[in-house]
Amino acid sequence: MAILRAEHLEKAFGAAAGSKSGVMAIRGVDVEIEPGQFVAITGASGSGKSTLLHLLGGITRPTAGRVLLEGVDLAALGDDDLAVVRRRRIGFVFQRYNLLPELSLVENVGLPLVLDRIPEARCDAAARAALETVGMGHRADHRPDALSGGEQQRGAIARALVTSPAIVLADEPTGALDSENSRRVVELLRSLVADHGQTVVLVTHDPGIAAAAGRCIRMADGRIVSDTLQPGSPVGGGRPPVPRQARESNGGGGGRRAGRKRR
Ligand SMILES: Nc1ncnc2c1ncn2[C@@H]1O[C@H](COP(=O)(O)OP(=O)(O)O)[C@@H](O)[C@H]1O
Ligand SMILES: [Mg+2]
Repeated sequence: MAILRAEHLEKAFGAAAGSKSGVMAIRGVDVEIEPGQFVAITGASGSGKSTLLHLLGGITRPTAGRVLLEGVDLAALGDDDLAVVRRRRIGFVFQRYNLLPELSLVENVGLPLVLDRIPEARCDAAARAALETVGMGHRADHRPDALSGGEQQRGAIARALVTSPAIVLADEPTGALDSENSRRVVELLRSLVADHGQTVVLVTHDPGIAAAAGRCIRMADGRIVSDTLQPGSPVGGGRPPVPRQARESNGGGGGRRAGRKRR
């Protein structure tokens, strides 16, 4: 079963859906993401990447269509239940880290567990372990403003991991980082897939980063315009559910993995 499945997804912003003054940010997206895939979403600025990621993560609700997470229709959940699913099953990483400035790093990382009313000592221990995983254990008691951008982003990834979520969604997590820190963040996301079997969906502008993923989805004008497996990538191709338009536009060629999907 797909871990994440979008069916005929649409999202209009602004005036009531369908009105001419609104913005149609997502115009009919069907996609399935399998457990253990490492997926990059690319496309020009304004093509709908962030909106799609927010819809997939239950951060915003679609104006039409639906999202199924592990078979559960997110539209069927009320806001409170949706918040619980989001907190427990999904880790979200933002371009600008979104760490709370008044909390230490370890308190930021433990926050999803605190909100779930886990005893404080367990929250702290789990948060410190997550910080060790991202190489930030030695910075646990610092406030975010004492950390570099790369360190804050690794902290934000630790916060996304602390609940051991099935799926990690990252919106241009390297957008504000230099190349060395970008490389570390991408390596970290790759290891979630390769070493822990988690599923990662990463939005990026950077073709070099997209190339690290096992599958690359390209968006334009609120639609998916291509969806390809990357034969050279060692991780995260998973079992490919490739939509029809991608199969048609994918031409011949492709390697072993690309061949398998036409079975
Ligand atoms: N909250 C919002 N209100 C109104 N329009 C929005 C909102 N969020 C995104 N949009 C519009 O939706 C389109 C897609 O935006 P976005 O998903 O942020 O694209 P990307 O992440 O690919 O740059 C753009 O035209 C953008 O201006
Ligand atoms: Mg964006």
